[in-house]
Amino acid sequence: MQIDIITIFPDYFREAFDYGIIRRACAAGLISIRAHDLRSSTSDKHHVVDDRPFGGGDGMVLKPEPIFAAVKSLVGADRRESMPPATRVVLLSPQGKPFTQSLAAEFANCEQLVLICGRYEGVDERVAEALATDEVSIGDYVLSGGEPAALVVIDATVRLLPGALGSETSAANESFSDGALDCPQYTRPPEFEGLRAPEVLLTGHHAEIARWRREASLEKTKRNRPDLLKE
Ligand code: ADE
Repeated sequence: MQIDIITIFPDYFREAFDYGIIRRACAAGLISIRAHDLRSSTSDKHHVVDDRPFGGGDGMVLKPEPIFAAVKSLVGADRRESMPPATRVVLLSPQGKPFTQSLAAEFANCEQLVLICGRYEGVDERVAEALATDEVSIGDYVLSGGEPAALVVIDATVRLLPGALGSETSAANESFSDGALDCPQYTRPPEFEGLRAPEVLLTGHHAEIARWRREASLEKTKRNRPDLLKE
């Protein structure tokens, strides 16, 4: 999978992919990630990427031309309808649809993933209207730019690629894959400063352990994310 990030801060990503699963996925040739400077897609002398909002108001808005040009050079198309199959062009913005595990699974099925990082007070809406295949938010809060959101989307997506997690682990029985949170985990020591791990986990009784895990998972979901159980 080819992952392209369009950003005014390409250096933000310099070491971000040098760790853990993403590093291994790059080394194994499962993915290739490149961060592109939006300023390189400008055609004016001063490499201007933003301008004042029509109608007035605070701050600056990212101009459409450099973003359309950057996507065209990476994908070969600059309209949503003419994107090659298995290509997703994702605008990261607080106005997007929520990023979920199932959207990560959709992204994991594509061949090219282009992530457009917004900045300043916004991005010219024609990017969302005509260029991006998806407008995505990672949560109900406002970041100062789409860069941290791009990292989140890449991490959640890459770990779902076949081969990325290694044979010892699987993404099949973790939080959200079955609509509930993952169960609590404990390791040695069995007692730490008066805090004991649940006895059942020390018994080696597999059926009882499985039952305990189902119940603990449900209880934790009720406490922290009751919204997940209402659907
Ligand atoms: N840019 C600013 N805030 C964001 C958010 N919550 N999700 C994605 N991109 C953003």
